[in-house]
Amino acid sequence: MLLLLISVLFVAIVNGLQEAVIFTFEIPQKRDGRFVYDLITSSPPLDVNSRYAYFLLCDHFASSSIICREASDDEKVIGFVGGYRKPTDPETLFVWQIAVDEKHRGKGLPAMMLDKMLQVHNPVTITSIEATYTPSNKASYHFFTKYAKAKQALANIDDYLSADDFGSSTGHEEEKLIKIFLTPMPTTMKNKEK
Ligand SMILES: CC(C)(COP(=O)(O)OP(=O)(O)OC[C@H]1O[C@@H](n2cnc3c(N)ncnc32)[C@H](O)[C@@H]1OP(=O)(O)O)[C@@H](O)C(=O)NCCC(=O)NCCS
Repeated sequence: MLLLLISVLFVAIVNGLQEAVIFTFEIPQKRDGRFVYDLITSSPPLDVNSRYAYFLLCDHFASSSIICREASDDEKVIGFVGGYRKPTDPETLFVWQIAVDEKHRGKGLPAMMLDKMLQVHNPVTITSIEATYTPSNKASYHFFTKYAKAKQALANIDDYLSADDFGSSTGHEEEKLIKIFLTPMPTTMKNKEK
C-alpha cells in the first residue's frame, strides 16, 4: 500500500512574516503509535488510551487512519485521524479520534486528513462517516458540521452514551453521535438534532 499519500504546501502570513510549511499525509505504520500517543496526550479533552492501543490502531487499523507531519520532521505527528470501518456496516467509517497539534489548528488540516482517508478507501465505497463528541467540545462539533456542509452532506445527530452509562463517579460527559451521509440520506430518515 502507498504510505505517503500527498504533500501539501501551506503558506500563511504570521506577524507580518511569510510562513511556509509543507505537510505530509501518510497511512500510519506501527512505529507511529508512540508519536500518535504524544499528540493525543497534548490534545485535551480527548480520552488518552494506552500507548499499546495506539500501536494497534496504527498497525491493524492503518488503512482507516491518517497521520500528518511537517515534512521537516519524520517523527512528531501533528495531526491524526484514527478510525475503522464498522464491522456491522463496512461502508460507514467510524472516526474514533481526531486531533491536530495546537500550533497547526485553523489551517483546515482535519478536513484534509478525512478527505485523504476517503481516497485511501477508493474504490471501496464509504457512504457515511460517524463520530461521537461531548457537547462541551465546540471545536469537535463545529468541525464535523462544517465538514458535512462543505460536502453538501446531511448530518444527523443522536444520543450515543449518557453520563450515567459511564458511571456517575467518572464525571464523564454524555457522548453524541454525528452521522454524515456522504451519499443521499435514506428518505425514511429525517434530519434531526436532539
Ligand atoms: C477538533 C480539532 C481537530 C479541529 O481542528 P482545527 O484545525 O481547529 O479545525 P478547522 O480549522 O478545520 O476548524 C473547523 C471549524 O471549527 C471551528 N472551531 C475550531 N475550534 C473551535 C472552538 N474551540 N470553538 C468553536 N469552534 C471552533 C473553526 O472556527 C472552524 O469553523 P470556521 O472555519 O467556520 O471558523 C482540534 O480543535 C483538536 O485537535 N482539538 C482537540 C482534540 C479534539 O477535541 N478532537 C475532537 C474529538 S472527536
